[in-house]
Amino acid sequence: MGIHVRTISVIKADIGSNAGHWRPTDEVLAAVEKTLADEGDVLDDYYVFTAGDDVDILMSHTEGEDDDDVHELAWTAFEAGTEVAKEQGLYGAGQDLLKDAFAGNVKGLGPGVAEMTFEEREAEPILVFGADKTEPGAFNQPMYSAFADPKVSSGLLLKDTIHEGFTFEVMDLEHTGDGEKKIQLDVPEDSWRLAALLMAPHRFGITKIYSRHSGEPGAAVSTQKLRNVAGEYVGKDDPVAIVRTQGDFPSPGEVLHPYGNPPMVAGSMRGSHNSYFYPVGRGETEIPTYFDGPPLVKALGMVVNDGEFSEPIYPFDFSFWDSVRDDVSRDFREFRERQGVFGPGTVDPGELEYGGWADIMDDLESEWSVEGAEQAAADDD
Ligand code: F6R
Ligand code: MG
Ligand code: MG
Repeated sequence: MGIHVRTISVIKADIGSNAGHWRPTDEVLAAVEKTLADEGDVLDDYYVFTAGDDVDILMSHTEGEDDDDVHELAWTAFEAGTEVAKEQGLYGAGQDLLKDAFAGNVKGLGPGVAEMTFEEREAEPILVFGADKTEPGAFNQPMYSAFADPKVSSGLLLKDTIHEGFTFEVMDLEHTGDGEKKIQLDVPEDSWRLAALLMAPHRFGITKIYSRHSGEPGAAVSTQKLRNVAGEYVGKDDPVAIVRTQGDFPSPGEVLHPYGNPPMVAGSMRGSHNSYFYPVGRGETEIPTYFDGPPLVKALGMVVNDGEFSEPIYPFDFSFWDSVRDDVSRDFREFRERQGVFGPGTVDPGELEYGGWADIMDDLESEWSVEGAEQAAADDD
């Protein structure tokens, strides 16, 4: 095997769906695939999958991160899919392609990006995640658990190279100036300060995790807020992630463990509610149809072999996860119907992506009156 410094990229966009924000049609996916097949010379391999209404393009190449040609290829593929989505009259056709023309890098143009560059190991097992109807920080808790919590990741206690810990890179999602505002924290020393940041998944999102033993990247997460890109609600920032597993990284089972009792994340209806992550397998029928949720998480396991992806395994196909799905369905239905829009049922008003609630508050502004103020002022005199 030739040793290559290799980059794995996942670039995703919602370019239109059948019957609402559910799932793109096979024809849309075929148009995306055809572009990659016809114009994908820059790639060693690619694989297209969906998570709810999102199209996720997984790519293997040697061009490095933020590469113009790779990003442009994904953009062109999404444009081809959008054309079909428009012909078919699909809902939200081209939704995440915020700009008319490609400008060097898809970041800031709408699509989400997770990329990592590494020297391919003799065997290079990876997990790739796609999520739908949720928020950029949705992977915070599962990633923290897998790379920093010995209760979940027994490797932190049982394997010397993993015991050396990991460096987490976290992004401030509310940074609006130029560039990306990031911080690096080492676990275990900084694990509490890291947890303090991750307590606010609407504000801070893990972007990368590195092994402290080798300095090699172990995880990459797409982390952006389209609202801050577009200046208004244009869709959900459904994240994608790549994780290298085994050896000096957590095992696939440690990475997947947190989804056995999945965390509550922001998402489902209008991106405004709190709901449990729902693990889905390959199934084409996994569509967010109960209260536009629950937020979906799909995982694919494969190896990268000389730059080529093996046929993926969808771990959440395993019947074990049926009981998790049953639990989440029951818990989410109960929480949703018990709580409605009140209190913790919904996200903080400042996090609402639709402007309707703020408009109501503005409307009410003139109708408030403060009773007893005159009397209090008189009493003071
Ligand atoms: C949430 C989501 C959906 C939509 C909802 C209304 O991520 O995609 O909950 O927000 O279906 O969609 P519009 O406003 O497009 O009618
Ligand atoms: Mg959509
Ligand atoms: Mg989506």
